[in-house]
Amino acid sequence: MKHFPIIAAALLCLCACSVKIDSSVPARIKDGKIVLKTPARPAGQQNALLLTAPAIDTVRVGFIGLGMRGTGAVKRFIHLKGAKVTALCDLVAEKVQNSASILAEAGMPEAACFDGPEGWKAVCERDDVDLVYICTDWKTHTPMAVYAMEHGKHVALEVPAAMSIAECWQLINTSERTRKHCMMLENCVYDWFEATVLNMAQHGLFGEIYHAEGGYIHNLDPYWDKYESNWRMEYNRNHRGDNYPTHGIGPVCQVLNIHRGDRMDFLVSQDTDSFHGKEVSADKDFADGDHTVTLIRTALGHQIEIQHNVYASRPYSRLYQLTGTEGFANKYPVQGIAVKGDKIEDAEKEYDNLDGERFVPKEVFDHLMEQYKPEIVKEIQDEARKVGGHGGMDFIMDYRLIYCLRNGLPLDQDVYDAAEWSCLTELSRLSIEHGSMPVEVPDFTRGAWNQVDGYSYAVKK
Ligand SMILES: NC(=O)c1ccc[n+]([C@@H]2O[C@H](COP(=O)([O-])OP(=O)(O)OC[C@H]3O[C@@H](n4cnc5c(N)ncnc54)[C@H](O)[C@@H]3O)[C@@H](O)[C@H]2O)c1
Repeated sequence: MKHFPIIAAALLCLCACSVKIDSSVPARIKDGKIVLKTPARPAGQQNALLLTAPAIDTVRVGFIGLGMRGTGAVKRFIHLKGAKVTALCDLVAEKVQNSASILAEAGMPEAACFDGPEGWKAVCERDDVDLVYICTDWKTHTPMAVYAMEHGKHVALEVPAAMSIAECWQLINTSERTRKHCMMLENCVYDWFEATVLNMAQHGLFGEIYHAEGGYIHNLDPYWDKYESNWRMEYNRNHRGDNYPTHGIGPVCQVLNIHRGDRMDFLVSQDTDSFHGKEVSADKDFADGDHTVTLIRTALGHQIEIQHNVYASRPYSRLYQLTGTEGFANKYPVQGIAVKGDKIEDAEKEYDNLDGERFVPKEVFDHLMEQYKPEIVKEIQDEARKVGGHGGMDFIMDYRLIYCLRNGLPLDQDVYDAAEWSCLTELSRLSIEHGSMPVEVPDFTRGAWNQVDGYSYAVKK
């Protein structure tokens, strides 16, 4: 007993010493969870939920980053009515010229061209740009988006929008203060199956959805050396965790009404060692584990599972699976819906034989997919298929973005979606680096997560 005070002091010291957390914002351990500080909203600043801005007749677009993704976007924009490309920029002059030629060959007006490390600032400062469309590498997204909003421009930026919690708050604070849109270009929410299943979920086809899976499992071996200056490999070399979470988490957050009635509460992450990553990088200290899994619990007691693997020699998958009290949907490797027969509206047929424990037969699946196809998909699907971009979903995304800006509507994805879907990069790393410790997911709306009732995205019929 006489050693008790010494032991107690040592334990106290151990607890105090063990709370040093290397995060982009101040963090501490509370009730067994890592908790990151939420900065107070500056006085006079309002949240940006359902943010609208004056309608723009012709949306003038400046592109920054004309690599693989940016060039594809320019090719799509020549087909978009109500949009005009007025500026083009890349570090590399030849890439700018390549996109200028795409515009010229399509008979479009010439755009102002910029290259070099500072050219992007000139795009943000121009008077003839309403929307800055950013397709650069991950580390440049947030600084460019912030600068563009500060210069009075709306922003659309590639995934992930931010690579740290500090960057998430920079995007939010800038959008809230400037009242400029900041939309992350998460295209997977516009894929046919995901958009249609969202509409089914909104109509209650699956009952209460309490478990949802998503992911990004894509062997990038054929692509690593195509990224400018090898930026993607370099990022993964130095960062453990789910570095590319948004394709997986975006569609499931929409289905679960995240910050539209529910919110992500906390997560735990675990990775494997690096196996193939070490081989392709020829670096024995390669940080990113081959396979990362993150489990998230929501305030309403629902659960999300997200996976990341860009190293595996296996078929592509974004998982996308939903389990509800009354139904089930699955996209990879087999698309299917399982619901009881009484959930199916069909004037000509009864489906008493469907018990919900097997996928519905193909003709019923086709019937449901047609019945719940969102209006915007019906409206633009033929052109989207022709223009392409991941089978057409990229064109649907651009079409919706321009449509909303032209009509002064809230965008389908707001700055809080950008933050919530991107924040997994840092939060998964924090959890992994602390023995899979739970990490609280910040409430990026600062208390307004249940003020919008349900998903306001115009895919509703
Ligand atoms: N949504 C999707 O399906 C999808 C698919 C592929 C890539 N992406 C995202 O698109 C982004 C770009 O990826 P990518 O595959 O086109 O890579 P990439 O390397 O081909 O292109 C990035 C381009 O940005 C340019 N750039 C970098 N810094 C710049 C600066 N300061 N000023 C101007 N230009 C600059 C580079 O020169 C390069 O041309 C990434 O965020 C990636 O995650 C999204």
